[in-house]
Amino acid sequence: MTTPLTEKELKKQYETYREMNLSLDLTRGKPSSDQLEFSNTLDGILNGDYFASDGTDTRNYGGLRGISEIRSIGGELLDVDPNLVIAGGNSSLQLMHFVVDSIMHYGLVEKAFSKEKLVKAICPVPGYDRHFNLTQSFGIEMVTVPMTEFGPDMEAIEKRVVDQPSCYLLWCVPKFSNPTGCTYSDSVVKQIAELPAKSKHPLYVLWDNAYAVHDFDSPPIKLANIFDYAADFGTADKIIGFSSTSKISFAGAGIGFITSSEPVLEAIEKRLGLVTIGPDKVNQLRHAKLLTGRIREHMQKHASLVKPKFEAVERGLQNGLGNTNVASWTQPKGGYFVSLDTQPGLAKEVIDLSRNIGVALTPAGATFPYNEDPEDKNIRIAPTFASIKEIETAIDALTLCIRLADLNQVKDRNGT
Ligand SMILES: Cc1ncc(COP(=O)(O)O)c(C=O)c1O
Repeated sequence: MTTPLTEKELKKQYETYREMNLSLDLTRGKPSSDQLEFSNTLDGILNGDYFASDGTDTRNYGGLRGISEIRSIGGELLDVDPNLVIAGGNSSLQLMHFVVDSIMHYGLVEKAFSKEKLVKAICPVPGYDRHFNLTQSFGIEMVTVPMTEFGPDMEAIEKRVVDQPSCYLLWCVPKFSNPTGCTYSDSVVKQIAELPAKSKHPLYVLWDNAYAVHDFDSPPIKLANIFDYAADFGTADKIIGFSSTSKISFAGAGIGFITSSEPVLEAIEKRLGLVTIGPDKVNQLRHAKLLTGRIREHMQKHASLVKPKFEAVERGLQNGLGNTNVASWTQPKGGYFVSLDTQPGLAKEVIDLSRNIGVALTPAGATFPYNEDPEDKNIRIAPTFASIKEIETAIDALTLCIRLADLNQVKDRNGT
């Protein structure tokens, strides 16, 4: 249980931290170097044999959808038929940008949206900052709906789609969501699959399953299959799934994946052909050799390093803030983030106080469109890159800053 400290004691601890000249960083969800080591066999794994199982010479041009063995890996991650997977590039974010650009300016199975007076995207919050930045860059207006522990608030989404139709896109991170860590319930997945059928105009669901196999425990959590539901509702053309091996192998040198219906994939492939003559199939073959039949085993190695870091975060938050009502936080069972909510009005101050003693946190507001957290309360903690020792120090310092900020707020409120 947290022992209440006096203002003087809190300030004294804060000064002690300042004198330590810390330089700790919990900002971005990057794999640690130890995690990257698990995939070092990628180097040299081909041993001079560059031919894919169907005889394709991976060193040469062509093969816009990717080689079949890597599309099988994409199919496993996205829980779909590998024939409905395009494997391309090293980043799913780049594919998302490409797809939104295509939807907006060229059209996939619909005409381009950019001529519409107003195009809005529904963004569950807190959410992934890069989705928001990408969306904003196309001049798309973002409207927020709250996240619950079961996924986005579906009542709020239905209002946007059915009662006040103006939204053409919906962002989803369905498993170990960034940053809350929640996995969408079966019923939420089913309702999302049905949404495009209810919408008065085309609604694309951008289903970013970045953390599909990033469970800490066995057996893994099963995410309902949105593509199966979509087939039932006749909405398959409106669900576009993404994933990648970024946090499975090398974050900067992995493989990105897209899935959707065949007509949508054909439209995407046609546009991809304007940009490239083919993906890096050599890297695809390397990844297929590393991961085929081994994804679970490989991800358990990651979990053995990542889970203890999340446990360190939980321990530190409990020690510093347990049994107080100053903050609440999520306890994810996988993924890369913990989402912490302070009392309203404190996040900016907490992040400033932390920065001043050498603990870098994601800027306040980053988990909301336009960097505006209306209640100024959400803080995203990304513990994977730091060591356990660093996490322990950083979380201890963070909880101190939260208590200090809370004290300052109480004093302001009381005019003392
Ligand atoms: C939800 C989500 N999607 C996508 C990405 C980036 O994926 P990639 O490296 O495949 O571009 C991240 C990285 O943090 C993420 O959290």
